Parts: sequence; structure tokens; C-alpha cells
Amino acid sequence: MKQPTELVFGGVRALHGRLRLPGDKSISHRALLFAALATGRSSISNLATGEDVQATRAALTALGVGIRTGADAVTVSGTGLAGWREPEAVLDCGNSGTTMRVLSGALAGRPFLSILTGDASLQARPMRRISEPLRAMGAHVDGRADAAYAPLVIRGAELHAVHHELPVASAQVKSALVLAGLQAEGTTEIVSPAPSRDHSERMLAALGVPLEVDGLRVRVRAGAPEPFQLEVPGDPSSAAFFVVAALVTPGSDITIESLSLNPTRLGFVDVLHRMGADIEVEPTGERCGEPVGELRVRSSSLTATTMEGDEIPNVQDEIPALAVAAAFADGVTEVRDAAELALKESNRIGALHQELSEMGLAVETRADGLAIRGGVPRAALLKSHGDHRMAMALAVLANAIDGESTVRGWQAVSSSYPEFADDFARLTGAQ
Ligand code: S3P
Repeated sequence: MKQPTELVFGGVRALHGRLRLPGDKSISHRALLFAALATGRSSISNLATGEDVQATRAALTALGVGIRTGADAVTVSGTGLAGWREPEAVLDCGNSGTTMRVLSGALAGRPFLSILTGDASLQARPMRRISEPLRAMGAHVDGRADAAYAPLVIRGAELHAVHHELPVASAQVKSALVLAGLQAEGTTEIVSPAPSRDHSERMLAALGVPLEVDGLRVRVRAGAPEPFQLEVPGDPSSAAFFVVAALVTPGSDITIESLSLNPTRLGFVDVLHRMGADIEVEPTGERCGEPVGELRVRSSSLTATTMEGDEIPNVQDEIPALAVAAAFADGVTEVRDAAELALKESNRIGALHQELSEMGLAVETRADGLAIRGGVPRAALLKSHGDHRMAMALAVLANAIDGESTVRGWQAVSSSYPEFADDFARLTGAQ
């Protein structure tokens, strides 16, 4: 889907109607990877449509895994890890940190050479957090600056279990070590300093893998998932943009259906409830260990709040959307303990500071967060900083105010949600 390089939003357009979102990005990456670890045929519907998940699919194809798109679902013909073959070319992970980090864990135990690279943003993101523990498990991992940055070069080896304490909570690193642990001799134990998204644990346990969760500890032994059928629930991180758009644009009332209600992904709803948001959460069922349901959202007056400590890892992808809520809230909203925000698809601390200031809002930054005083934003010329979530957050903000704002670098939305502009236009009646 070709994206324009810039788009114009504005005019206080209320949102109405029902919305079903493309499949969750984190669950989609994992569904493809886990199906490729299984022996037999898996079928995955409502797979995420963005380029990040395409990068995982292309990498698995290059490793010899058979993946076919059918009328309603993607079929993966898994041959188990033993069936993976040395890729003939460099694996291009594009903008996707999840592809690079989680796949590295699987490749660490494969007896061949893999080289992983990505775009300029991904090449600047920290990789020592995976290269160090994978080396400790016995894999040969190299890369720029002694494997601190991609391109990464992995020569897989026989792995042995380790006990690893993550210095920062990260679902990508935890998942990489789980995939290495599935190939290692002994029990691998991974300890997180705070909760992070737990899709790998839920899905793998539901698929028969010997994995135990005990608070912040995950223990895994050698094993492989069973093949499965899964309809991927909608992506809560994409939902966050519509939720905030409905809250801050007067007269809005929307329902988002068939969404993942995984508690490690709904931190943003807790934050918005604290701010006074009218959001009803209704569970409807469970798929592959993942709770699913609906959200109903109506415009609300918001008051400022503080996000900090253990709450941060489970809201970090939603900070750009929550910053928009803060822009309309009464008082100063603070984000603390969030140094990881500077290491995402863009430096989101710097990017939010720059763009919100451009709209006339008072924003202060620190190394580990920012403070946003709610106010009356004005239309402006805005930039995505090459970051999909910045692009969508700025569209939501611009939509809620008078005048026309242009978001430059719009094509960044392709990473996670190429259909965003169409879905947003449908709910705002702009189409
Ligand atoms: C993800 C984990 C998170 C999140 C990213 C997707 C995943 O990163 O920010 O967008 O799918 O595992 P961390 O590994 O830093 O938690």
C-alpha cells in the first residue's frame, strides 16, 4: 500500500462508529515465528499488515520456511527448527526491532551463519542486550562495536542454559532468550526487573512448550510448540490512537471490537482512566492464551497524571498517544523512568518535545521522560521523525483542533498500520 509522504488533518472532526483493527503486531511476529518452530501446518488469520511483520515473514522464508497467503489466512508449513536452512543473503529486518531481536534468539542455536541488518533507525538501536546473553549461552555473535549494533552476524552453536537478569524490562530480549532456551541443554531462567508484555509466555505455554512463569521469572526447557490455528486479535497499540482521538475530540463515541485485552498491553487504559476517561472494557473470550474483547470510548474532560516506575514498560509504545491526551488535560502530565523512550523507532522524548512545542504547548524534557502542560494546541507543520507512532499521534492531535496541520514523513505508518489514514477518515466522516 503506497503512502503519501505527507497528509493534512484538522477541523475538530468527532469520531463515530465501530472499528476492527489489523492483528496485533507483537502477536503476529510471534505467531509466524512459533509456527515456524512447530512441525506441521499452522494457519494464522488477521495477521498484522505492516512492514515490520512482513520483515519477519520474509526472514523466515529466506530460512526455508514455507509460508503461503490464502483467501482467509496465512499458512505456515513448519518443519521444526531442524528444517531451517542457512539463508543465502543478509536478512533485512527493516524498521523492526522485534524481528531482529527475537529472531536472533532462534538463530543462536542454528548450525549456520546468519547476518541481520535493518534501516538506519534499527542500526542505531541497542543490540548488546541480546548479543551478550546469547554469547553466554554459547552462540557466536558479532556486529558493529563488538555486537552493540546491527548488522549482527550470528553463527549458531549448541547452547547451554543460563540464568539471566535483564538490566531493563524488555519483551523482545525476554522472548529472544526463550527461543534460545528452547534449544539449550538445561533450564534457562530469565528474570525481568519489571513486567513487560507476555505474549511469548502465554502463547508458548498454550502450545505445549515446557515453560513456567513465576512472577518476574520465566523458566524454559528444550521443546517446540505444536502447530496451531489463530485469529490474531486487534492491536491495542493501534487502538490507543483511536481511543485518545475519541477522548479529545468532542462529541465522539466509538467501539473497537475483537481487540487483544492482554493486561500487559492495557496500561494506557489504566492511565487514561486515572485521567478521567470514559472507556468501558468488555472481555468477550480468549484465543491462544490471549484475552480478547471490546472497548467503548466517549469524549471526556481529562486531568493530568504521572506515569512512572513499573508502569512504564507496559505503556511505552502508547506514550505518543498519551502525550496527545496530556496536551488536552488540565494540568501537567509527567512521564518518568522512561529512558528507553529515547531508544525506540525515534528518540520519542526529543520528537514529542519538538512537535508539541511547534504546536505551542509547554513541554519540558529530562533524560528519562518529559512533562507536558495541557493547553490550546495550534495547527502547525509537523514531522513524523520516521516513526509510525509519532505520525499517528500527530494526526490525532491535529484532528482535534481548528485549522489544518500537515504531518510530513507520513509513510512511516507503513511499519505497523498502513490502513490508518483510511480507518481514521471513515470514523471521522472525512471520507
Ligand atoms: C515488543 C516489545 C516492546 C515494544 C515493541 C514490541 C515486542 O519493546 O516497545 O514495540 O513485540 O516484544 P521492548 O522489548 O523494549 O519491551
